Amino acid sequence: MTKEIRTVGVVGLGAMGAGIAQLCVEAGVETVGREVSTELAEKARDRIAHFVSRKVEKGTLDAETRDAALGRLSLTTEVADLAGCDLVIEAIVEELEPKQELHRELERVCAPDAVLATNTSALSVTEIASATTTPERVVGMHFFNPAPLMPLVEIVRAELSSDDACETAYAFAERIGKRPIQCHDTPGFVVNRVLIPLLNDCIRVLDEARVGVEDLDTGMKHGAGWPMGPCELVDLVGIDVHVHASEALYEKTREPRMAPPPRLVAMRNAGLLGRKSGRGFYSY
Ligand SMILES: NC(=O)c1ccc[n+]([C@@H]2O[C@H](COP(=O)([O-])OP(=O)(O)OC[C@H]3O[C@@H](n4cnc5c(N)ncnc54)[C@H](O)[C@@H]3O)[C@@H](O)[C@H]2O)c1
Repeated sequence: MTKEIRTVGVVGLGAMGAGIAQLCVEAGVETVGREVSTELAEKARDRIAHFVSRKVEKGTLDAETRDAALGRLSLTTEVADLAGCDLVIEAIVEELEPKQELHRELERVCAPDAVLATNTSALSVTEIASATTTPERVVGMHFFNPAPLMPLVEIVRAELSSDDACETAYAFAERIGKRPIQCHDTPGFVVNRVLIPLLNDCIRVLDEARVGVEDLDTGMKHGAGWPMGPCELVDLVGIDVHVHASEALYEKTREPRMAPPPRLVAMRNAGLLGRKSGRGFYSY
């Protein structure tokens, strides 16, 4: 049975959390956003307002609808203010201990039937859930970056997740306009499990086949039908983010293809992080 979600909490309003909160308020859901400081929370609200206002400028949204959406977002620094949430989506730093500690706190303040979802990319949802005494209500809701634009959400069933919690998360993802898929809690879930070693292979081919960056991208776009070349994609994701995700997957699976290619590690160490630093495989 799916639970009706009237109010959602989003914890951590960084790159992912702010995007998720934006999706929720735009879908008409009362949303409580929690950050570690008022300043960071307000910065996130400004970013959300900026993106929603751009739609008004483009003529795809009217000002009244924008104001109503932004009016649904309340901000807090207190976990206790999430007490009335039917679903809480956690998007804080990618570290096990802070996530476990937060889930313990959420379990204390939220109603017993509230669903707790983590947006972790590489940690085990089962391990996060194990910090609580009610692991059946903990699931993964893995959004993709940028959350407002990428349609997919992986609904991750941990070892002890209940059907109700998984169904509730799935239905909520649909309600906010996403395309959910279901999977079990395994390293990388579905998309990263496939995509990360594939991108690592592409980077290794740069050296093995002595193909140029632009030719490799052209090859994958025109020979494999990719919408974007692998080097363009790694630049967009962030070379540091990709290296970190590769290391996390390699640590769990010990499959050599998961390990970050030395070329990417060297780029990360040199500060060539892709689009966000102005230089990666390409210059921006
Ligand atoms: N960036 C991506 O491409 C991406 C994609 C999918 C999933 N994720 C996952 O989403 C999560 C967040 O990633 P991000 O890229 O948004 O990180 P980020 O660093 O941009 O944001 C994290 C935010 O959480 C806040 N925070 C930290 N501890 C907190 C706490 N206890 N309570 C409230 N706020 C807290 C920080 O102040 C920061 O603003 C991670 O688990 C990450 O693995 C990231």
